[in-house]
Amino acid sequence: MGADVDIRTIEQTYRRYARIYDFCFGAVFQPGRKAIVDRMACSPGERILEVGVGTGLSLPLYPEDVSITGIDISRDMLDKAEARKKRWGLNNVIQLTQMDAEDMEFDDDSFDKVVAMYVASVVPYPERLVDEMRRVCKPDGQIIFVNHFHSRNPLVGRIESLLAPLSKQLGFRPDFSLERFIGETGLDAMAMHPVNLFNFCTMLEARNNKPFSSRGDLPILAGR
Ligand SMILES: C[S@@+](CC[C@H](N)C(=O)[O-])C[C@H]1O[C@@H](n2cnc3c(N)ncnc32)[C@H](O)[C@@H]1O
Repeated sequence: MGADVDIRTIEQTYRRYARIYDFCFGAVFQPGRKAIVDRMACSPGERILEVGVGTGLSLPLYPEDVSITGIDISRDMLDKAEARKKRWGLNNVIQLTQMDAEDMEFDDDSFDKVVAMYVASVVPYPERLVDEMRRVCKPDGQIIFVNHFHSRNPLVGRIESLLAPLSKQLGFRPDFSLERFIGETGLDAMAMHPVNLFNFCTMLEARNNKPFSSRGDLPILAGR
């Protein structure tokens, strides 16, 4: 699945995006962010990790009685998230840190829920992202994504395929396949729902199907 993009290129791309990100991708993708937080049905005291938190557009959506950690590879995007946290007085956001979601510094089983909003088609190696999400999530925890996947509409799908060579410049893969994502990560999908205008994106909830071997090793994928 990966890696036609590298982490430095992603950082540069999102440095350019940071100032205009909310204007371009804020309101239009907010229903998906809201759907995912609703779906998480957070309980008081839960520890939530949001990978690729970006400018923190989702942060005000979480309940006040959970603790949220956000990581992102882009300092510029995180600066915007910090500003949002301050502006909204979000005391439940306990940490916003620059970190690679494919190689996280957290201990195993650190979080109750791990979420990736519009990130899976951005990272260089989606399978490493999922492996790390599994590792830091408690064994009975919840792993949940929202993302755009390659459209099944023949015309839209064709346009996305034509745009695919521009993935580096766009900062995401427009032709990112849902089937390959699930197949190559071994995700144990529990639920899938279309979200956003024209059902443009999909929310995907997965069971944390550990075991995987250990940090850095390949996950033991279900069905392989
Ligand atoms: C399309 S934006 C989504 C931002 C936010 N989740 C939202 O809902 O708008 C993708 C984000 O993933 C971040 N990202 C990409 N690769 C990453 C990685 N390996 N580790 C952490 N963050 C990453 C980018 O810097 C960017 O902020």
